[in-house]
Amino acid sequence: MAVHPTDAVHAAATPQRQAVFPRGARFDDGWLTALGGVAAADLAARFDTPLYVLDADELVGRIRAFRAAFDGWEVAYASKALCVTGVLQLAVAEGLSIDVASAGELATAQRAGVPAARLILHGNNKSMAELELAADVGVGRVVVDSIDELDRLTRIVERRGHVFDVLLRVTPGVDTSTHAFIRTGHDDSKFGFTLSTGQAADAVARAAAAHGVRLLGLHCHLGSQLLTSDVYVRAAGIMTAFLAELGDVHGVQLQELNLGGGFGITYTDETPAAVVDHAQALRVAVDAGCRRYGLPSLRVTVEPGRSIVGPAGVTLYEVGTVKALEGGRTYVSVDGGMSDNLRPALYGARHTFAPAGPPRAGPTQRVEVVGKHCESGDFLGRDVAVPDDLRAGDLLAVAATGAYTHAMSSNYNRLPRPAMVLVGDGRAQLLVRRETIDDVLARDQVVTPEPYTR
Ligand code: LLP
Repeated sequence: MAVHPTDAVHAAATPQRQAVFPRGARFDDGWLTALGGVAAADLAARFDTPLYVLDADELVGRIRAFRAAFDGWEVAYASKALCVTGVLQLAVAEGLSIDVASAGELATAQRAGVPAARLILHGNNKSMAELELAADVGVGRVVVDSIDELDRLTRIVERRGHVFDVLLRVTPGVDTSTHAFIRTGHDDSKFGFTLSTGQAADAVARAAAAHGVRLLGLHCHLGSQLLTSDVYVRAAGIMTAFLAELGDVHGVQLQELNLGGGFGITYTDETPAAVVDHAQALRVAVDAGCRRYGLPSLRVTVEPGRSIVGPAGVTLYEVGTVKALEGGRTYVSVDGGMSDNLRPALYGARHTFAPAGPPRAGPTQRVEVVGKHCESGDFLGRDVAVPDDLRAGDLLAVAATGAYTHAMSSNYNRLPRPAMVLVGDGRAQLLVRRETIDDVLARDQVVTPEPYTR
């Protein structure tokens, strides 16, 4: 079947590849046999595929690692990475605050029982309805992104007398080397107030003077999937210098600094800084800034999303059609694709794969793993090593899919979206039930065609 030269190794994920899977993953001869003490084959049989699986030990372990490393700082989970009720329940039980960026994320946090004081509301275009909801709920911090938004807040304050605790989002002019779509700290960005042009200082002056708006501090977020600490260190230096300038020049003393998220993870062979190293570098940078500029001690927040949930997630697919082109590539089609993981198609993102289920020894071949959608850009992995005899009915597992997969999923080609289960301790709990075709059709209305077809 295979037209590519085969590797003289087992189908096998190497030990290094296995390390990209969550800590609850078990391997036998390179095959993923179990997750969280539940057999991979049983998960697929019980919940069907494609299936998002979240390893509870990995998730909770990562939350604890962040809390320990950033002890004394606030850690807010950026829920956009994966916003489902059960995950937010775990996050809040483990002491995290929650960053939300829409009414839907806010409603999810409420359903998960997140105390309002631990909510941070983001967004570059918050609607009046979203800001009203923030007032109703009493969210802890609104991160103001524009003068338009400040005006909207003022209108709400005038109407109902609510006082908003706010941070201003500042674009500090720190460029990063991540994908252009997920870069936000540079000047030419739709987010926040630009520091270098003086816009941020003007916005601070306006916010500080605004009635019913209590300006507590500043926020910045540089981008996502950042592998090194140096950009955060630069941002901490710039932001503390700006806090000092605001005090000295404008007479505005602020006590809070939110440095955003963006901490990168390993998808294949990346080597991101460890959480403890990020924390250490950031602490030193913030302390140095405070000392240098004589600032009071700050309340500091970080907002990790991907690095909390990403490595805890595995997607299980069932293999369908395998097409080997004469003298060319082999295409392995799975039962999902860009509708459940848009990242490869959108960002060229790479993932680590492993066959799943009871192992079969044998050599490997290199294939293109593609989805079932009607377009050629629908791929999940290029040049992926899989068993030479991989065939319809086999399971294929994709590692590090906890972040921005379910969150960015769609019904393209009217595919129902997959279920998600939480595994650990030998048990599997449904986090999100699988969509049905009825769900997909539920919002469609039957119209009267005649007026247009006469
Ligand atoms: N805080 C703010 C204000 C953010 O905008 C984001 C992410 C985060 C925190 C969390 O960043 P993280 O720690 O997850 O990198 N869909 C893209 C990622 C978009 C990130 C958007 N903002 C992807 O799949 O790579």
